[in-house]
Amino acid sequence: MKCLTFSFLIILIVFIATTFAEKEPHRHKGYKHVFHDEYRKYLDAHPSKNHHEWSEERKFRREQRFNQTLEWIKNHKKNHHPYDVGVTRFADVLEEDLPKYHGLDESQNRHQRALPVINPLTSPPPASLDYTSWAPPITDQGKCGSCWAFSTIGMLSTVYRYTSNKVWNYSLSEQYLVDCDAFDNGCNGGWPKNTLLWLKNQSSLIPDSASYPYTSGTTANRTACKVTGLNKIPLKLTNIYQWNVNGNETLTKQILYSYGPVVTTMSVPLNCTAFYSYKSGVYVDNCNCVSNCTLVNHGVVLMGYGTENGLNYWLFRNSWGTTWGNNGYMKIARSSLNKCNMACFLMGIEQ
Ligand SMILES: *[C@@H]1O[C@H](CO)[C@@H](O)[C@H](O)[C@H]1NC(C)=O
Ligand SMILES: *[C@@H]1O[C@H](CO)[C@@H](O)[C@H](O)[C@H]1NC(C)=O
Ligand SMILES: *[C@@H]1O[C@H](CO)[C@@H](O)[C@H](O)[C@H]1NC(C)=O
Ligand SMILES: *[C@@H]1O[C@H](CO)[C@@H](O)[C@H](O)[C@H]1NC(C)=O
Ligand SMILES: *[C@@H]1O[C@H](CO)[C@@H](O)[C@H](O)[C@H]1NC(C)=O
Ligand SMILES: *[C@@H]1O[C@H](CO)[C@@H](O)[C@H](O)[C@H]1NC(C)=O
Ligand SMILES: *[C@@H]1O[C@H](CO)[C@@H](O)[C@H](O)[C@H]1NC(C)=O
Repeated sequence: MKCLTFSFLIILIVFIATTFAEKEPHRHKGYKHVFHDEYRKYLDAHPSKNHHEWSEERKFRREQRFNQTLEWIKNHKKNHHPYDVGVTRFADVLEEDLPKYHGLDESQNRHQRALPVINPLTSPPPASLDYTSWAPPITDQGKCGSCWAFSTIGMLSTVYRYTSNKVWNYSLSEQYLVDCDAFDNGCNGGWPKNTLLWLKNQSSLIPDSASYPYTSGTTANRTACKVTGLNKIPLKLTNIYQWNVNGNETLTKQILYSYGPVVTTMSVPLNCTAFYSYKSGVYVDNCNCVSNCTLVNHGVVLMGYGTENGLNYWLFRNSWGTTWGNNGYMKIARSSLNKCNMACFLMGIEQ
């Protein structure tokens, strides 16, 4: 009898504990979150997430976010869509942490001197364009708001490889820009036009990534600017341009055709599971991505455009590794509405 009462008490305690734990784990001192199997497997496959360092509350919230993403993906796959989605590194990332994977700071656009708007060449652009075969391997900015450094280097490398027929084949150091570029702000954001101007002011020299490898992706912080032991590569930075195309997608096509790949700014809504889970096809925005050039928050390399199954798209290269998107690339709907602000500010060089 005693034993039975005792068992009942234990069951009651466990019941109360789990009921409350699921709702408000942080209110209970000593609450230990136990990961469910699928999430544990996901964490094992992503050791850089360092989940051992998370608080119990964070463990719960990340798993909750992961569950929501799985559910969202399952529902998306039930219906026909022009694009496919899947579980990516963002599946469990909380909305408040997503800006760390961007790093475009629009306020820095105003502080530097404006560059002249250059008219593109007049020859009409072709129906489709794709510079990806000239691009270097996809890179990964990690948890550091350094898209400005990655998009600048992605653009420069592709232009040089294109114009030299791949004879130019260096891997340039993003970490150098994150640590040393005084015109930008390390892991807290920057503006690619500033980066190009700063590089030009450094005698157009930049170390290769072997002599200055990237570390901020895991530390989420810059390190002291390294000046010795660097293997510096000369760049050709004669004319640096920023085109404020203000939503004009026709003009954007002409610039891409006339000048080669350019950095473009864009807006990624933080509450948009679709974008962060994108895998392939033409991404048709469903997150109320507004058209407003003051809201850009991410920098990528515009690589081309085309039409797939009747849908017009822009093709861009991201810096989120190869597991996001189509090996790191995305086709995003191209329309006269300038969805997601793909045609606001373009930055590039003339060769
Ligand atoms: C996530 O889903 C699993 C499987 O359905 C479930 O066991 C677990 O309690 C859920 N976790 C959270 C935090 O909601
Ligand atoms: C360029 O360099 C990379 C890495 O060093 C190498 O894998 C690739 O084959 C090179 N490409 C060409 C065209 O030389
Ligand atoms: C360019 O570099 C020089 C010397 O490194 C420095 O004195 C100057 O202030 C820089 N220019 C700008 C605009 O910062
Ligand atoms: C980032 O590094 C700087 C020094 O390099 C240090 O002062 C700062 O505390 C670090 N920030 C974080 C969040 O670690
Ligand atoms: C967009 O740019 C094209 C090409 O320069 C130009 O002909 C057209 O008038 C522009 N459209 C608008 C709405 O400004
Ligand atoms: C995301 O937030 C915006 C602005 O608050 C809202 O209009 C939109 O409906 C939200 N999208 C989703 C998918 O929740
Ligand atoms: C664009 O966004 C800014 C900042 O949120 C806002 O002040 C402005 O009114 C918006 N412009 C339009 C046309 O909606």
